[in-house]
Amino acid sequence: MIPYGSQWIDNTDIKSVIQVLKSPFLTTGPLIARFENEFAMFVNAKYAVAVANGTAALHLAVLALDIEKGSEGITSPNTFVASSNAFLYNGIQPVFADIDAKTYNIHPQEIKKQLTSKTKVVIPVDFAGQPADMDRINTIANKHGLFVIEDAAHALGSKYKNGKMVGSCCYSDLTTFSFHPVKTITTGEGGIITTNNRKLYERLKKLRNHGIEKEENFLNQNPGPWYYEMQELGYNFRMTDFQAALGLSQLKKIRKFIQRRKEIVETYNKHFNNLSWLKSPYEEEGVNSVFHLYVALFDFQKIGKTRKQVMEYLFENGIGTQVHYIPVYLQPYYQKNFGFREKDYPQCESYYKRCLSLPLYPKMTNRDVQKVIKHIKELY
Ligand SMILES: Cc1ncc(COP(=O)(O)O)c(C=O)c1O
Repeated sequence: MIPYGSQWIDNTDIKSVIQVLKSPFLTTGPLIARFENEFAMFVNAKYAVAVANGTAALHLAVLALDIEKGSEGITSPNTFVASSNAFLYNGIQPVFADIDAKTYNIHPQEIKKQLTSKTKVVIPVDFAGQPADMDRINTIANKHGLFVIEDAAHALGSKYKNGKMVGSCCYSDLTTFSFHPVKTITTGEGGIITTNNRKLYERLKKLRNHGIEKEENFLNQNPGPWYYEMQELGYNFRMTDFQAALGLSQLKKIRKFIQRRKEIVETYNKHFNNLSWLKSPYEEEGVNSVFHLYVALFDFQKIGKTRKQVMEYLFENGIGTQVHYIPVYLQPYYQKNFGFREKDYPQCESYYKRCLSLPLYPKMTNRDVQKVIKHIKELY
C-alpha cells in the first residue's frame, strides 16, 4: 500500500531514541533545549518552545497573547480543525475568511471583509506547504492592531517570497509547527512554537508546564531548592526527551527530505500538466514550498466518476489518497454552536468538491511514483 503520506525513520533515528531511553532523563532533560536551539537556528528565529503536538502549540500560542474572552479570531476554513479549535480553547469566537482560488490559502481581501471591532487575532495557515500571503496579512494586522499566529504545520522548510524561512516570524508574532508523522520531520507526536519576542518565549515555557515557574529570577520568594511557583494556569504540554532526540536526528536529514518531495512533485507535474481534467498544485512565483501535500483538483464530471469511486479505484490498486480538508465550518460542532451553514464560503466549498491529495512523502520510490501516475492517467 502506498499511503498518501508517511514518515521516514532510519537506524540513526532509532539509535538516537534508544540512547535517550537508556539515559536518566526521559522528559524535562537536556535534549529539549538542544532541539529547540537547533530548530530555532534552522528557521532563523530567536526562540523556540517544544510542546506535545501542533495542536498544543496553537493552543498555547493563543493563550500567551492574553486575548480577551469573547474576542474574534480569523482563520482559513481550508485547514485541519486544530487551527480554529485554538480559538475555542481560549474563549475566542471563530471567524473564517474564504480562500484564494489559486493557492487555496486564506485570501487577505477576505480577511478584511471579516474584520470587526472584536477581531484581535489572525491565524493564517500555510496550506500544503505554500506560505500564506503573509506580507499582506501582516500589513492588515498592523493597521488594525491584530496579533498574527502563523500555523505552519505544513510548512517546515518553506520560504516566503523575500527568501526568509517560515518560522523566522518576520510576519507573525508566533509561528507553530507540528511533527506528526506525515509532516516534514516527525517526533511521533510533537510540535513547536517559534517567536522573536523574549516575553512570549518565557511565558510559553511556563504555560507548557502547568504555569509553573522554577527559575530563581522569576520567583516571588526562594526558600530552597525544592521550591517552585504555579503563577498562572497552564497545562502539561511537554515534549519528551526521546521525542526531542528523534527531532534532532530528523532535522539533520531535513534537506534531503525536502529535496525528495520536490523531485516527486516535479515528476507528477510533468505527467499531469497536460491532463485537461486534473489541475496540479500552483506554486506562487518567488515562493519556495516544501510541498507537504500534492493536492490535485479533479474534474470528476469529465472523467465520469465520483471522488468516492476514484478513491476506491486507487485504493483497490494499493494507492492511498485523502481529502484536505472538509471546510472546518461545515463540521457539525461548528454548525451547531456557531451557526455556520453550507455556502458560507463558496471558494472553499468549490475547492473542497474537487480536491484529492495524492501520495507524497520522501521515502516514496520512483516505482511508487510511476505506479500512482499510471493509475491516475487510467482514470480517463
Ligand atoms: C494545518 C494544521 N494545523 C495544526 C495541526 C495539528 O497538529 P498536531 O496533529 O501535531 O496536533 C495539523 C495537523 O495535522 C495541521 O494540519
